[in-house]
Amino acid sequence: MNVLLTDGTGYIGSHTAVVLSQLGYQIVLYDNLSNSSKSVLEKLSQITGQQIRFINGDVRDTELLKGRLAAHHIDAVIHFAGLKAVGESVEKPVDYYANNVQGTFSLLQAMQSA
Ligand SMILES: NC(=O)c1ccc[n+]([C@@H]2O[C@H](COP(=O)([O-])OP(=O)(O)OC[C@H]3O[C@@H](n4cnc5c(N)ncnc54)[C@H](O)[C@@H]3O)[C@@H](O)[C@H]2O)c1
Repeated sequence: MNVLLTDGTGYIGSHTAVVLSQLGYQIVLYDNLSNSSKSVLEKLSQITGQQIRFINGDVRDTELLKGRLAAHHIDAVIHFAGLKAVGESVEKPVDYYANNVQGTFSLLQAMQSA
């Protein structure tokens, strides 16, 4: 089963990637690297012993998601990507709404289309 993980290079996503990989799932990581680094991929490869598939993309990019969901034959999606700093969310509520809520809608639209 192919699983797309948003927040793939983030804290929760990368740990989930290890567990899913150990359970035999084929994982594809999706992240815009706004709060994580591509260097995580190297570490994940070392831990899992597998080449990690990664898409550098934003969850608000519905068209990119549609294409990648189809190209990688994705069966399931786990959505963790988001902004989560409490103080910043109070300072920039519209940015957080746009990223987290619109991002989720975008992902759902792409999944429905796929
Ligand atoms: N860390 C915790 O202890 C914890 C506990 C409970 C819930 N959560 C929730 O889990 C989720 C992930 O938290 P985390 O700790 O992994 O955070 P994190 O900042 O380490 O990871 C979030 C990832 O999402 C990516 N991202 C953000 N906006 C994106 C977008 N528009 N498109 C694509 N990628 C985007 C960032 O680049 C980052 O890699 C959050 O919703 C958080 O509230 C975390």
